[in-house]
Amino acid sequence: MKIGIPKEVHEGEKRVAATPASAEKIIQLGFEVSIESGAGLASDITDEAYKEVGVTIVDDAQSLWLNSEIIMKVRAPELHPEFAVDEVDLMSVGQTLISYIWPAQNEALMQRLADKKTTILAMDSIPRISRAQKMDALSSMANISGYRAIIEAAQHFGRFFTGQITAAGKIAPAKVLVIGVGVAGLSAIGTAKSMGAIVRAFDVRPEVKEQIESMDAEFLMLEFEEEGSGEGGYAKTMSKEFLDAEMALFARQAMEVDIIITTALIPGKPAPKLITKGMVKTMKPGSVIVDLAAEQGGNCAYTEKEEVVTKHGVTIIGYTNLPSRLANQASQLYGSNLYHLLTELCPEKNGNLFVNMENEVIRGAVIIQNGDITWPPPPPKLSAEPPPQTEAPAVKVEQEQQQSVVSTVIKQWLPMIIVGLALFGIGSVAPASFMSHFTIFVLACFVGYQVIWNVSASLHTPLMSVTNAISSIIVIGALVQISSDNNVITIISGLAILIAAINIVGGFLVTRRMLNMFRK
Ligand code: NAI
Repeated sequence: MKIGIPKEVHEGEKRVAATPASAEKIIQLGFEVSIESGAGLASDITDEAYKEVGVTIVDDAQSLWLNSEIIMKVRAPELHPEFAVDEVDLMSVGQTLISYIWPAQNEALMQRLADKKTTILAMDSIPRISRAQKMDALSSMANISGYRAIIEAAQHFGRFFTGQITAAGKIAPAKVLVIGVGVAGLSAIGTAKSMGAIVRAFDVRPEVKEQIESMDAEFLMLEFEEEGSGEGGYAKTMSKEFLDAEMALFARQAMEVDIIITTALIPGKPAPKLITKGMVKTMKPGSVIVDLAAEQGGNCAYTEKEEVVTKHGVTIIGYTNLPSRLANQASQLYGSNLYHLLTELCPEKNGNLFVNMENEVIRGAVIIQNGDITWPPPPPKLSAEPPPQTEAPAVKVEQEQQQSVVSTVIKQWLPMIIVGLALFGIGSVAPASFMSHFTIFVLACFVGYQVIWNVSASLHTPLMSVTNAISSIIVIGALVQISSDNNVITIISGLAILIAAINIVGGFLVTRRMLNMFRK
């Protein structure tokens, strides 16, 4: 089948649905790939790079839409500025489109696509389950957005993120508050931490506490009993009382922090207003708010979609195209998400689509099938159910069981039989003392192994714990031998104790220095 990749027409959209690397892999699945000339330029990808991997370059967008059985895009279809015709009207009956659609927010678009008798797979509707992670464009783009949000904040923030002690004076680290710790929030935490800021975070889903703390950020606790976890890993709409309590927490934080990154959103719902105008007024001049939920109205009362506004000395950024601001990387990840979705849609690798609605991932993504609206899908099953057992003939099962018993016996016993025979062979020729020394040696190895590998790394790093455990065993062995009548053994034991002691003390010193590097 022929896949066409048009140039994105949305203003400011720099991403492209395939890179040469992803296109090459898609061709290996048996598809023919064509791309509109110049589609990758905004992502720094030339037509030549596509040509080199076997992609056909098409100059005219209309003929690309017309001659492709599958269209892969980033943004949902919209008015084509050049032809003054909607991209939906460029589609033909039976054609398949894979792109973002946002079906909950775009009812009219859904109806027009259905009227065209098309099949639509929405990248924003891929279920957020473990198996679908490699196709999850929401996550891969949110990861970029979280990173970029911090970079945008740094651009407008007139200070260091990290604290410093210089000859000219002490510089306090910036304080960052992240509201909503989904993928974008976690990415923002990671980036802000790596730049040296003090990071605090809040989310209505209590399960993210551990994730926040594992990134060495502080989870802001709210003394309010209400479970925020909804279906499919998303939050649910919270009660007014909860939102009020949450906002009281943010009001206190707003006076303290320098940067606020807000990502709080429940899919298909307008963004909750969590940062009021009053809170912005209490923030320090020069502070920055980056509102990732700007597309859905924003979490901050002052947010203006796509704009950077300054109110009471605070800069409020409402960009909705953050992934596009890292276009090359975003295209790579999005292209890779699309390729993985195609592997699911084309299991035979024969260049044909098989829209298997039994497949949970495909079922989630398909929002229109041959003109029938199939959205919303049933909620994803979060429990890992065992695959259904297919009934095989009883004789076959019995044979297989017998075979597996034989192979298990061979696997388990064969090495022991070989070792036993080898020991018997050695024992029959070696002196009698050898066997008793050898037995003690084997037992010592066993005990030593158990002692060392059961040390828990509670005081220092796992590596240090293991090396210190080894040194301790050496010290114990040497102490047992040091009172020997033989001077050579006494000297060797003394040396062993000295070297092992250096290792243990040195280990603690190095660990302490390493820990100090992370302490503020
Ligand atoms: P997500 O759904 O994984 O995360 C949203 C988080 O907000 C969830 O952890 C949820 O529990 C939390 N949340 C919901 N209501 C809350 C409340 N009242 N208080 C505190 N936390 C609350 O979404 P993801 O993928 O991390 O994206 C985050 C946001 O960024 C979304 O709004 C998304 O649309 C937006 N986004 C913006 C982009 C841009 O360029 N501006 C690009 C990509 C995503």
